[in-house]
Amino acid sequence: PFDVICRASGKRLHVPADMSLLQVLRQAGIKVESSCRDGVCGTCETRVLAGTPDHRDSVLSAEEREEGDYMMVCVSRACGDVLELDI
Ligand code: FES
Repeated sequence: PFDVICRASGKRLHVPADMSLLQVLRQAGIKVESSCRDGVCGTCETRVLAGTPDHRDSVLSAEEREEGDYMMVCVSRACGDVLELDI
């Protein structure tokens, strides 16, 4: 479980262990494009402003994972307690 701060929407949301980041964002009325919801298509790619993503997708390269500037919100989560997204 972790919190997500949505800078553009001005919201801070809690992401419980049994829900994906994408589910929490949608439930809060934040629009995120998605397709596969399985970490393979890249549609839900979202810019990360702060925090360290726990990458669980198969889209990003090792280098991109290391940089941590983007994440796939359908499957990836957070390493720490809070992530801030440009959404
Ligand atoms: Fe396909 Fe997230 S919806 S990677």
